[in-house]
Order: sequence, then structure tokens, then C-alpha cells
Amino acid sequence: MPTDAAVESRFVLTDEQARSLAAKFGTPLYVLDEAHLRERVRRYRRAFTSAHANSELTYASKANSTLAVLAIVASEGCLIDVASEGELRAALKAGVPAAKCHMHGNAKSSAEIEFAVESGVGQIIVDNSPEIEAIAGASGQRLDLLLRLAPGVDPKTHAKISTGQADTKFGFNIADGSAEKALLRCLELGLPVVGFHCHVGSQLLDPEAQVSGGQIVAEFAKAMKRQHGFEAKVLNLGGGMGIRYRDEDQPMPVEEYCQALAAGVTDVLAGTSLDPLLVQEPGRWIVGESGVTLYAVSCVKTVPTPEGERTYVVVDGGMSDNPRPAMYGGEYTVRWIASDGRAGQPPKNVRVSGKHCEADTLFDDVPMPANVARDDVLQVLCTGAYGSSMASNYNRYPRPATVLLREDGTQSVVQQRESWDEMFARETVPEDVQC
Ligand SMILES: Cc1ncc(COP(=O)(O)O)c(C=O)c1O
Repeated sequence: MPTDAAVESRFVLTDEQARSLAAKFGTPLYVLDEAHLRERVRRYRRAFTSAHANSELTYASKANSTLAVLAIVASEGCLIDVASEGELRAALKAGVPAAKCHMHGNAKSSAEIEFAVESGVGQIIVDNSPEIEAIAGASGQRLDLLLRLAPGVDPKTHAKISTGQADTKFGFNIADGSAEKALLRCLELGLPVVGFHCHVGSQLLDPEAQVSGGQIVAEFAKAMKRQHGFEAKVLNLGGGMGIRYRDEDQPMPVEEYCQALAAGVTDVLAGTSLDPLLVQEPGRWIVGESGVTLYAVSCVKTVPTPEGERTYVVVDGGMSDNPRPAMYGGEYTVRWIASDGRAGQPPKNVRVSGKHCEADTLFDDVPMPANVARDDVLQVLCTGAYGSSMASNYNRYPRPATVLLREDGTQSVVQQRESWDEMFARETVPEDVQC
């Protein structure tokens, strides 16, 4: 465990803060730190602009679309990437002008496209051929389009967050000619394509895959200029930069990451007249390290196993507030906080499990003091991204609240814990089957 605060980039509550927040707001609880979040946006923007002046940062709101987060990130000068009508509506509700939103999605419905066009989104990132026709039909001539490309790059990350390889549902394949055909069809329809997009994958601890993807897209832009005179004005290189989920994870500093990415892409374009705006759209890196989740321990039990024994520390949350461990083995850093401030006994490795009717293993092989007990608090770091935005009601548990720690030291509940009324608001029982 690093003890040097200077190397700790993640937001961490003190034990006292964690205890008091858990007592005041209940658990499980998402906690976000405003100052940390603002600094993440500023740092990424500074890094990208100094690597490449003609650049723009977009926040991938799927990572956390809590309205307060959207408002804070937008106020720091980020555009907002939305991947559905719901995310677009969230951005609009947070006060973000539609023109500052970029609309993604690999299965946009006609209604979603209409809504995006009517709202006046700044850009639509087009994923497939039927979408081109639907956008043309929805008077999409009025907004900028990017074509999402599949560059055929396999990032070294979990298969479920790999998107840039050839065998993918996302975007137009470059190698088989689909991307070129899509561009020509847009031009034929008079649609305002301004450039290209790719996103190769997520939790990338170095920029190698993103650089490769960007370079292939830049090569494609060069070829389209040469063959068809098409001038790409924008290259969106996606998001994906990784964060320090585990103490041992060492993501490259964002400054070096942006330098490598910008240099890789501009190298390809050198000697051409192309000088596109470079865009990145990180989500996880912006908000992930700014948030923690607090759980209360429900029970501790040690059971026999063929190898000896295992201790389960069961908490009052689980896959409904953080599905990442169940979905793709997402790992985290977990800190123990005694409910009464007692000292921890020498640790042993335990399995932290959730409250759901599944194995619901949240965190495995976690060093935990042997005297961990009911009502102790666990603080899980780096849960600002893909926690609340992926939460569900499995087992009819209400989704947790989010507390924002304001820069002035106050606490603001920016997302209430779901109430029982909200839980059942969508449902009715037909009269003839009522008990
Ligand atoms: C198109 C696109 N852009 C950006 C992102 C953001 O990725 P990350 O949160 O890892 O930066 C994603 C993640 O799924 C994505 O699909």
C-alpha cells in the first residue's frame, strides 16, 4: 500500500469522514469530491491542449451521468458525449446546451435521431448504414456528423471493454471497405460529415492501442483526401484512459499519454494539408478516481474449503450498485474502517461479497484485519465511474444516494437514495389478478 500522499492520485476519505458520512446518509453510499473532479477535468484539458493546441475534450457521460457531475464537467469547458436519448436528456436537464453534446450509440432508434436533431445536438457519431439514411430523413443536414470507424486494433484490456478490433459491433470496418462506402454515401446525400471517430477500448494503462487506432483512422483520412478530395476537419480518438483501481495499477501520467497520442496521429498527417481538430472523450479517467463507495459490513463468516478455510465479509451492497466485478472481474482497492475506532488486528485475506442472490463476489483476496465485524465500514476507492450509471434494482434494493463534497466543505445530496414509491412507480397489477 502506498503511504506517500504525494503519489496518491485518488480521492480518499479519512476514516472519520467515512464513518460520519455512512452514519449520516446510510450505506451503500456513493461519495464524490467536487474539487477532485474539477481538477481531473482541468488536468486532462491542460495536458491535451499542451500536447496539441487544436484539440477539444469531451466527457463520456456513460461513466457517470448524475446531473451534478454533468454540470460540473461542462462548467470546466468539456463537451458532453451522450450515448442515448436518456443521456442527452440528462445533459439538457443539467443545463448543458445541446450544441455542446455529441450523440453516440450503436443502435440509435429513429425517435432518438429525431430527438437529437430537433434538440440541435452539436454532432452525431454515425455507427452504421441504416443510420445514415435515418439521419438524412431527419434533416440531419443541419448538424455535423462523424463516422465511427473500426480500426481493427485489439487493445490489451478485458474483452468486454474492447471495441476497436475488427470483430466488433461498433462502427464501420475500414479494412473491408465499409468505411469508405459509408463516407461516399453521406457525401452523395449531402450530409455534413466533418471527420472520423474511433474508440478502441477502456481501462488502457498506456496509449499504445489508442495511438494505433488513431493512426489507422488518420491513414484513412489521408486516403479519403487523396482518393475523393474529402477533407477531414475532426478526428475523435475516443476515450479509454485507465485509472488506478488497484494500488499496483500505474496508468501513464495523462500529460505523457496525450503527448504520445497527439504525436502518433500528427506524424501520420505530416506532409499533408490535413490539420484536423483532435478530440478525446474519456469518461473513467475524468470521474472514476473522484468517487468512493461506502458499505457497512453485515456479517463475517468463515467456512471450510478443500484448501482450508475462507472468510467472507458480506456487505450491504453488491452487484446492484457496482456490477463491474460481476461483469468483467473489475478489481478495486478496499479500506477497512472500524465502526468504533478500534485498532485492526493482523490482516488475513478475505472475500468481500454482496447482498444479492448470486455469488456476488465484489472483491477477492482483500487483506482485512482479523477483527473485522458487523457495522464496520468499507471504503472502496475509484468508484466514481460506471457505478451509479450502471446501478440496478436487482432483488428490489433501492439504488444508493450520491453525496457531493463541495469545495466549500459542505455536503450536498445530488442523487437521493431511491424511495419505495419510486421503486414501484412504474408498475400496476391488473384488477382481475389482484390478491
Ligand atoms: C465511444 C466511447 N467513447 C468513450 C468511452 C469512454 O471510455 P472510458 O470511460 O473508458 O474513458 C466509451 C466507453 O465505453 C465509448 O464507448
